[in-house]
Amino acid sequence: MTGRLQDKQLILGVCGGIAAYKSVQLLRLMTQQGARVRVVMTRHAGEFVAPLTFEALSGEPVCIDLFDRTDRDASIRHIDWAQEADAAVIAPATANLVAKLANGTADDALSTFLLAMICPVLVCPSMNTHMYQHPSVQRNLDRLKSDGHMVLEPGAGQLACGTVGPGRLPEPEQILDRLISRLTPKDLAGKRVLVTAGPTREFIDPVRFISNPSSGKMGFAVAAAAEHRGAEVTLVTGPTRLSDPAGIQTIRVVSAREMAGAVFDHFEAADIIIKTAAVSDYSPRETADHKIKKGAEEMSLALQKNIDILRTLGGRKRPNQFLAGFAAETRDLRENACKKLVEKNLDMIVGNLVGNPDSGFSADTNRVTLFFPNREKEPLEIMDKASVAHRILDRIMERLS
Ligand code: PMT
Repeated sequence: MTGRLQDKQLILGVCGGIAAYKSVQLLRLMTQQGARVRVVMTRHAGEFVAPLTFEALSGEPVCIDLFDRTDRDASIRHIDWAQEADAAVIAPATANLVAKLANGTADDALSTFLLAMICPVLVCPSMNTHMYQHPSVQRNLDRLKSDGHMVLEPGAGQLACGTVGPGRLPEPEQILDRLISRLTPKDLAGKRVLVTAGPTREFIDPVRFISNPSSGKMGFAVAAAAEHRGAEVTLVTGPTRLSDPAGIQTIRVVSAREMAGAVFDHFEAADIIIKTAAVSDYSPRETADHKIKKGAEEMSLALQKNIDILRTLGGRKRPNQFLAGFAAETRDLRENACKKLVEKNLDMIVGNLVGNPDSGFSADTNRVTLFFPNREKEPLEIMDKASVAHRILDRIMERLS
């Protein structure tokens, strides 16, 4: 499995803030994605996390002092590292570092590094809410943006210092996502992509519903991959535990009927439609207003067929739209998937054999086969859902061109 940061050389700048512990996890995520990461710390960062931690996890020397007498190459190295880097992430970035970078001050290793850099820099401010909202800090952040740096808005909530408001360092996964997005080639720029994800819920009464184990991971991965590649993405999702992905218009729905409404609203404008959602085929004919009480030994539920959203889209599709569906099957993958490909007038169907812990519902990895109207098929090896998503988009782009 190749990572999304394979062969990238990155600088992780760490400042002295309570959130410095999160940069340890960020470093791990970056290296797991295949990056070579060199850490540059401020002296104060060392009060929060020992340099040895970063050294052990990155497998690289950590730079704190350009004039370290035990490391004679340090002052030369900052020029080499800065010029070799594909990107730098400063997490957490304190008010002091933000001020230095905004004003071109170079009075320690990290601020000097940053001035020597010619690659994209992602600045992740994290500090006390009042400090963050201070006009001088906001002015400096605006200047960083106008200088072409990316600034990731901090999260809001109760901070370690007790204040409530913005200032929290976003989770390492979110920082990684924005970094990957910045470094991914934009071959889908100008395309509008509509993705569905997750399960639907068909309520029997206020506390019970018919659903399935879809976690939304596959659909969210498709939406994120399309956004990373420059598309304008709309994601219509059933109930999941996943938070709204950055840079994507996310519409939350519950039932198949609601999903149909949201999809139909956005279908006309879309160039590519990828229907990953596991939509309930049936819903109760009636939903009780109150919780149904236990009574007779047996009870039966009258169900009615839901609208088949994908089939409806297949009937409305314009020649320049690309319509892809998924087929979750427990047996006879090719026969069942190809039947849906034809019946729903699709340009591609992703056959997904479900039932194994490493594939299909809720898993982080997936094993799928792509089927096309010309009877071509492409079985993919097992891989993480982000990689599956990119393969799907690769094939769609090949066919669209
Ligand atoms: O969310 P995860 O936990 O990551 O799991 C991913 C997944 C297993 C849900 C996903 O990979 C997958 O296989 N999705 C399709 C699931 C499914 O419902 O397949 P289906 O064979 O029932 O439906 C075929 C296609 O028709 C699907 O694109 C579906 O979105 C669509 N459909 C189905 C019924 C319906 N009423 N309307 C539809 O649009």
